[in-house]
Formats: sequence, structure tokens, C-alpha cells
Amino acid sequence: MEIIDCVDEMQRRALELRAAGKSIAFVPTMGYLHRGHLSLVERGRAEADVLVLSIFVNPTQFGPNEDFDSYPRDLQRDFALAQAAGVDMVFTPTADSMYSAEAATTVHVARLSENLCGASRPGHFDGVTTVVCKLFNIVQPHKAYFGMKDFQQLSVIRRMVADLNMPVEVVGLPIVREDDGLAMSSRNTYLSAELRQQGLALVDAIRLVGAAARAGERDAATLVAMARRRIEQEADAEIDYIQICNDATLSDVDTVDEQAVILLAVRFGATRLIDNNYVLNEL
Ligand code: PAF
Repeated sequence: MEIIDCVDEMQRRALELRAAGKSIAFVPTMGYLHRGHLSLVERGRAEADVLVLSIFVNPTQFGPNEDFDSYPRDLQRDFALAQAAGVDMVFTPTADSMYSAEAATTVHVARLSENLCGASRPGHFDGVTTVVCKLFNIVQPHKAYFGMKDFQQLSVIRRMVADLNMPVEVVGLPIVREDDGLAMSSRNTYLSAELRQQGLALVDAIRLVGAAARAGERDAATLVAMARRRIEQEADAEIDYIQICNDATLSDVDTVDEQAVILLAVRFGATRLIDNNYVLNEL
């Protein structure tokens, strides 16, 4: 497995591979790999000649009071996991090499980036789309893999790729969960045993809402109130949002149908957990 930390070198290697007729699969990450990332790696490994994984904790997608400094990092552990999973190249640029002092360009996806996490984390999606656009230009992938835990991120990236005619196929893969249902996230490592237990309320809320909807309750406001009541039972839970949205527009819906997704963001202490599920799908 090659480790490349230089932007120009990564781009040169990718262009050479393309010229030689090789297909490139790409898994962009911020590191501290878990089984969710590895499910993306596994799919990418099966679908292309060369598999590139990036590890870059992108400063521009964190707000001033967010966890950029404390975001978990362990490159040696990540390298070992990547190698065992069959990654060919790990790209680990520095922030200085990704963003020059003169940089003046931002990729902004309107509408889809405004609701949900876009409302509570201003500027977050501009940071994500700009870095993903840059990474696509550097790594030159044919296919790129993202997890559905970041449901809104996946929608925003698909929109960017379509709008800017990027020659990349975006593949979204299902949320990978711990045995007790908690969605895998690098941020789960922040949680004490007590807060982790409280965090399972997200899964419980999704299940309660799903069961009620499948039993016939289709009013979104009633279902959101039900989820809210369940989350509020936890001593440290601070709800950022609980919304039921259309999967294509990410606008709130009044009535649940096959396209309705429940999306939740809840803080437990300093840790913000997100989760989602198609309302009518069993979790
Ligand atoms: O999902 C993530 O880990 C990040 O938002 C991404 C896509 C790697 C961009 O920094």
C-alpha cells in the first residue's frame, strides 16, 4: 500500500493510472476508520482496479466552536486497517497543501444544503462540497463511495456532481450499526458509557416512529412529537433537530409516504450524534 501526502504526486499518479486504462475507486474519509468506512472500502475494492482512500480532517467543514481540534486521529491504526482491507493508496494531504493562502473558490450547493445540518452548522456543506470537489480533481475517481449516515451530505454531493457534470459515479451505502443499533461514527469514541447508553434513544425513537407509521399514523408532526418525547427522556439529550423530510428535496413533509426519511441530530454532552432512516422501513 502506498501512502501519498503530496497533492501533485497524488494527481500525477491518478492521471497515469487513468491513461493506462485503470479504473479508480475512491473512499474519502476524515480517518479514525470504523466498520462503516470499511464497508465502503470493501465495495470500492470489488468495483475498480485501484482503490484510493483519503484521510483528511478538513478544517473548512468545522464551525469555530466545533470539534476540529479534538476530532479523533490515529493514522497508524488507519493505515493498518486500510492495508488489511486491500486499499492500494492512502492519500493524507496536509491542510496547507490543500488550501493555499490565496484560495478564493468555494463550491456551494443551494437549497439541499440549507435545511437540517445546514441550518445548525452554517458553512458546513460549503466546506464539504469544496473539499470533495478538490479531492475528486486530485484523485480522478471513476466511482466514489459515501455512507448514508450522512444522508444530507450524500444528497448534496450527488447534486454537485450532477450540476457540475463531474465524471464520477457516486455510490451511497447503508448505515453500518453496532450490535445494539447505534450508527457507527468516529465521534462515538467521545461518548462515556453513560452517554453512549443514552445515545441509543435515537435508534429507539426511529423504531417507535417506524412502528407507528407502519401501523397507520402518517402525520409527520405527530410522529416527530413522538420521537421528541422519547429523546427527551434522556437526562443529557439536547435536540438539535428531529425532522421528517422528502428524500429528494430534503424539505419537511406533512404526510409520510415511501420517500419520507426521519433525520435526527442530538447532542449528548459535547457529542453530537446524527442518524436517519426511511420512516416506513424497519430498522
Ligand atoms: O464524511 C466525511 O467523512 C467528510 O465529510 C468527507 C466526505 C470525507 C469530506 O471531508
